[in-house]
Amino acid sequence: MTYRAAASRYDAMQYRYSGRSGLKLPVVSLGLWQNFGGNRDYPSAFEILGYAFDQGITHFDLANNYGPPPGSSEELFGQVLARDFKPYRDEMIISSKAGYEMWEGPYGEFGSRKYLIASCDQSLKRMGLDYVDIFYSHRYDPETPLEETMGALASLVHQGKALYVGISSYPEAETRKAHQILKDMGVPLTIHQPSYSILNRWIEDDKTIDACGELGIGMIAFSPLAQGVLSGKYNRGAKSGTRAEEANSSLRQSHIEPNVLEAVENLGAIAERRGQSMVQLALSWVLRRSEMTSALIGVRTLEQLKDNLGVLDNLTLSDEEIAEIDAATINGLMELHPRPQGWLR
Ligand SMILES: NC(=O)c1ccc[n+]([C@@H]2O[C@H](COP(=O)([O-])OP(=O)(O)OC[C@H]3O[C@@H](n4cnc5c(N)ncnc54)[C@H](OP(=O)(O)O)[C@@H]3O)[C@@H](O)[C@H]2O)c1
Repeated sequence: MTYRAAASRYDAMQYRYSGRSGLKLPVVSLGLWQNFGGNRDYPSAFEILGYAFDQGITHFDLANNYGPPPGSSEELFGQVLARDFKPYRDEMIISSKAGYEMWEGPYGEFGSRKYLIASCDQSLKRMGLDYVDIFYSHRYDPETPLEETMGALASLVHQGKALYVGISSYPEAETRKAHQILKDMGVPLTIHQPSYSILNRWIEDDKTIDACGELGIGMIAFSPLAQGVLSGKYNRGAKSGTRAEEANSSLRQSHIEPNVLEAVENLGAIAERRGQSMVQLALSWVLRRSEMTSALIGVRTLEQLKDNLGVLDNLTLSDEEIAEIDAATINGLMELHPRPQGWLR
């Protein structure tokens, strides 16, 4: 049966401008990093993606290497676009990225012009698109001149292959430089995509979040649930069917050490008092900052998506609650993503 989007799709979702751009994103966006690759059949993928769009999630985030295997998430999303989402293309913000290893040899990763332009072309082909709405440099490359990486992003805009450009996981100083280089080329840096959650606050520590606010760059937080840890399920001993259980998981044992789980445990009472689930508390915390345009979640199941969308019922946190969350988690802070400074070749 042909998909028809719900008439009510814009009733509940809230949208925020990405920095000082004219681009609005839903406060909850959906990423296709790990749960929409070759391991997923079409009906179960579309059950989630169609529901998301029906609830006003207009932003779908991809990258060249999402899967597994790399490239398969974009292929699956391309099928979804062709079969079901096509009439709604102009209601969607679809992003992709290049930065991590995608193909063999010296041109298949990091930040060269050669890699970024070729990879964007590949992504467009896989998704069957003429352009992506946002194209990102997926990680800072300490060995390629920033002028070259930003020049490649600007070229993609000028070629009509990307409407907006962004950077992901760039530290504060490089964020400022990237913004200025692009500005000098007449292309705004529209968005920064860092990891950020109650348990992972590196953008506060190195002041990237302040720089983005000052420069008018929007922000979208990835892994806002600390890859599921903030749901509290690992406190309850969950193993089977979780990210932690997967081979070579991006969620490592160090992310669920006793001090982390204790911090998560402490959050349970705060969430309960607010009448929220723990994931809803975690998302409202990320979105408490005015610099934060959107929280970029990943879900394995429709039930998880429904739970997460419940955050829309209560996005406000008082100063007292924020202080309470700080106190509850002070001994459990971790880094879910390596600090960008650590990414030397
Ligand atoms: N720019 C970058 O470098 C970068 C890096 C990583 C991610 N991202 C983007 O950010 C998106 C989200 O990242 P993420 O998947 O790490 O985000 P996340 O929302 O922190 O974690 C998602 C995982 O948490 C679990 N989960 C979600 N909702 C739940 C619920 N209600 N109850 C219990 N468990 C729940 C699920 O894990 P289970 O599998 O255990 O069920 C799900 O796969 C990605 O898809 C991608 O688009 C970008």
